[in-house]
Amino acid sequence: MQTSETVNRKTAMPWAHLRLPPFPQVALKVLQAVNSENVALPKLCELISADPAFAAEVLTVANSALYCPRYPSGSILQAVTVLGANTLQGMCITVGVRAYLGKTMSEPAMRGLWRHNLATALIAEQIGAHGIGDKNIAYTAGILHDMGRIALAVIQPKKYAEMLNAYRGAPVGLLEDERALFGKDHCETGKQLVKEWKLPTSFAAAVSGHHEPRRTDGAWDLAELTKVSCRMADVAGFPACAGCETAEYGELLEQLPARERRLFHSELEPLSAEIAAAIKAVEAL
Ligand SMILES: [Fe+2]
Ligand SMILES: [Fe+2]
Repeated sequence: MQTSETVNRKTAMPWAHLRLPPFPQVALKVLQAVNSENVALPKLCELISADPAFAAEVLTVANSALYCPRYPSGSILQAVTVLGANTLQGMCITVGVRAYLGKTMSEPAMRGLWRHNLATALIAEQIGAHGIGDKNIAYTAGILHDMGRIALAVIQPKKYAEMLNAYRGAPVGLLEDERALFGKDHCETGKQLVKEWKLPTSFAAAVSGHHEPRRTDGAWDLAELTKVSCRMADVAGFPACAGCETAEYGELLEQLPARERRLFHSELEPLSAEIAAAIKAVEAL
């Protein structure tokens, strides 16, 4: 008789054999440069301009409705000067993730994953803007939080999409299915990527712990902010998978510190509409 364990052993692919497709190098270089202190803007321009296709896309996003610039930027230098290094970091990782997903984006489940990451980033940015941290760092943590999931999905798009489509339950339950299929879940994979990419450890904590329950001691940092933003993205209409159970919006609001709660959307509908409009603006490019 086949137990679920034997099935898992048969279907699981040894992690050592999984080759993660390379992430766009230029996006990684920008991420690393922005995290090193005192990065010079001309250096950033040089990095981005070294990849003309990537530079063109960054310029398109910089001039899009997502950033609503007063005057369109005609060059990367102009865009960097107007938007600043930290905003550029978030933009480059957004462009990078989109390029990484590539053709798999035509699959609705994959598009759902991309939208969930973007929604999480946009929510994290807004919550971050009301708090003591840097809203751009919060945005980047949001884009990175399910990067492990995106990497697994890029390795096996069909299998991953099937798993997402079949799943019903709390988002955290998907981790077990991933371990059965890949030998690792997306939190571990994401943590590994952050390490390989030499990003700050604060991102590693945000990526690896985002499915853990909210800490009960009231602690508030990038990891806690990412947890709540991910759950809010689910309830705002952008879950990682269609069958994922969502929390009550009011419950999630309660998890924010007093200042952030007071300044953030008290109603779900305006938040959902705002996020949907921003995602549409990016997808229209
Ligand atoms: Fe996740
Ligand atoms: Fe998530």
